[in-house]
Amino acid sequence: MPDSEPIFLLLPSILSLILFFILIKRKQRRYNLPPGNMGWPFLGETIGYLRPYSATSVGEFMHQHISRYGNIYKSNLFGEKTIVSADAGLNKFILQNEGRLFECSYPRSIGGILGKWSMLVLVGDMHRDMRIISLNFLSNARLRTHLLREVEKHTLLVLNTWKEKCIFSAQDEAKKFTFNLMAKNIMSMDPGHPETEQLKKEYVTFMKGVVSAPLNLPGTAYRRALQSRSTILKFIEKKMEVRIRKMKEGKENLEEDDLLEWVLKHSNLSTEQILDLILSLLFAGHETSSVAITLAIYFLPGCPLAIQQLREEHLEIARAKNQSGETELNWDDYKKMEFTQCVINETLRLGNVVRFLHRKALKDVRYKGYDIPCGWKVLPVIAAVHLDPCLFDRPQLFNPWRWQQNNGSRGAGTTTSSASSSNYFMPFGGGPRLCAGTELAKLEMAVFIHHLVLNYQWELADTDEAFAFPFVDFPKGLPIRVFKS
Ligand code: HEM
Ligand SMILES: *[C@@H]1O[C@H](CO)[C@@H](O)[C@H](O)[C@H]1NC(C)=O
Ligand SMILES: *[C@@H]1O[C@H](CO)[C@@H](O)[C@H](O)[C@H]1NC(C)=O
Ligand SMILES: *[C@@H]1O[C@H](CO)[C@@H](O)[C@H](O)[C@H]1NC(C)=O
Ligand SMILES: *[C@@H]1O[C@H](CO)[C@@H](O)[C@H](O)[C@H]1NC(C)=O
Repeated sequence: MPDSEPIFLLLPSILSLILFFILIKRKQRRYNLPPGNMGWPFLGETIGYLRPYSATSVGEFMHQHISRYGNIYKSNLFGEKTIVSADAGLNKFILQNEGRLFECSYPRSIGGILGKWSMLVLVGDMHRDMRIISLNFLSNARLRTHLLREVEKHTLLVLNTWKEKCIFSAQDEAKKFTFNLMAKNIMSMDPGHPETEQLKKEYVTFMKGVVSAPLNLPGTAYRRALQSRSTILKFIEKKMEVRIRKMKEGKENLEEDDLLEWVLKHSNLSTEQILDLILSLLFAGHETSSVAITLAIYFLPGCPLAIQQLREEHLEIARAKNQSGETELNWDDYKKMEFTQCVINETLRLGNVVRFLHRKALKDVRYKGYDIPCGWKVLPVIAAVHLDPCLFDRPQLFNPWRWQQNNGSRGAGTTTSSASSSNYFMPFGGGPRLCAGTELAKLEMAVFIHHLVLNYQWELADTDEAFAFPFVDFPKGLPIRVFKS
């Protein structure tokens, strides 16, 4: 029987192979994964997930998946097995267990473009060191005096150029404001200066690549952005060299109270690390808050009562200042902007500048009876919580009064009090990676709104809508027309 011999020899390997698969199946069966659909091989459901939709909704994909599977479901996104969470409790649990059960895990393309030392992708000790530097730059003490003054100065610089009855893009104006503010406070670059304008232009190309498909092929937005990245880095590096030379010459320049100066003096970061830090702070601090301001300009005309109440609040502040002969806003004035804070929260809740975060499970985690296996991607979708009708009464409605304490008449209604809904409200993320710019972003919005409602009335000059791509953008740049008030 010479012919059967090979099969006979193979038998043990075949048996062990079968045993191997049974064991793997067993191991898999031990997990009680949430329901869901893994979609196509490799692509999974990524294309459906990324399809653009109205920014004030969760989008068709999310809506269908939640109604079919519930608030926690499994999928295959960005080439990885993923648990998607639209569950308020799980989102909070994920963010608060950063570094223990979960860890920040952005797609490799983001690291390629923001840099491997970018705060968005760093984890562990290095992240902590960079975070401390950023928090120092954005500390309360600096906000109260220096940054408040800067924010007001740059607001007026933009608003004072607005011409009555002309049509212009509100989004471009908001970007001008936040970019100038960041460029000045990070590297002491002056608005309007040719090199600032050049950097701004380069940044537009860069941004398009951050949010595009990460295809590093000639002609793609991603490739162009990688080139922009290196142009911008060279630019920042030149600034750095000039600064180091000045410091060596002992020219203590007290005016240049910027991030670059601070990092060079007080940290031992390498050049490469400083470049990535500055690039990503410029990115984090300019894109998000300009979109937030544009969203406020977009939502408010739909709610004239809110504009009226805002105007009353800010006129009151302006009158008091006028009487005491002061001109610049101070921290006490800012603290008086109570209704404005409701408008800010409502804008962030309904507009959802950042819609979901990227995490991965570091261990097997069990939540509400479901298993999240170690190594799987986890996407906390913070936007879905903000638009959940179980948590926010009529969530599609722009209603700043829902944030007012002790206002039972309208707003929160019976399902939610403002106290309990702010528990689920996390536009700035949470836990150890809570947005470092939270307070600055709110300050920018409040001061911009202050001078906007005091000086202008505005109307939307064309139909435009906030879309989630999933980064939020207005396809036409939100054209508006203004009138002096
Ligand atoms: C409305 C405006 C803004 C929104 C909605 C926003 C949102 C967020 C969110 C959700 C995160 C967390 C990302 C994650 O956990 O993976 C974050 C992180 C961060 N944001 Fe913001 N942000 C805004 C404005 C700003 C501004 C003005 C700055 C400052 C210059 C800033 C600086 C940062 C930094 C440095 C981080 C990283 C923090 C860390 O990893 O420890 N952000 N932001
Ligand atoms: C900076 O110095 C501290 C000690 O002062 C050290 O622990 C840390 O690793 C250094 N960081 C870098 C990037 O060299
Ligand atoms: C500010 O005060 C001056 C007089 O002190 C007055 O003429 C002016 O109308 C006031 N402006 C506002 C906005 O109240
Ligand atoms: C706005 O939301 C924050 C949570 O991010 C909350 O602490 C704050 O009280 C809210 N403001 C108002 C006026 O409700
Ligand atoms: C409650 O909200 C309504 C608008 O719905 C507003 O007119 C009213 O002033 C608010 N009440 C208080 C006490 O703020």
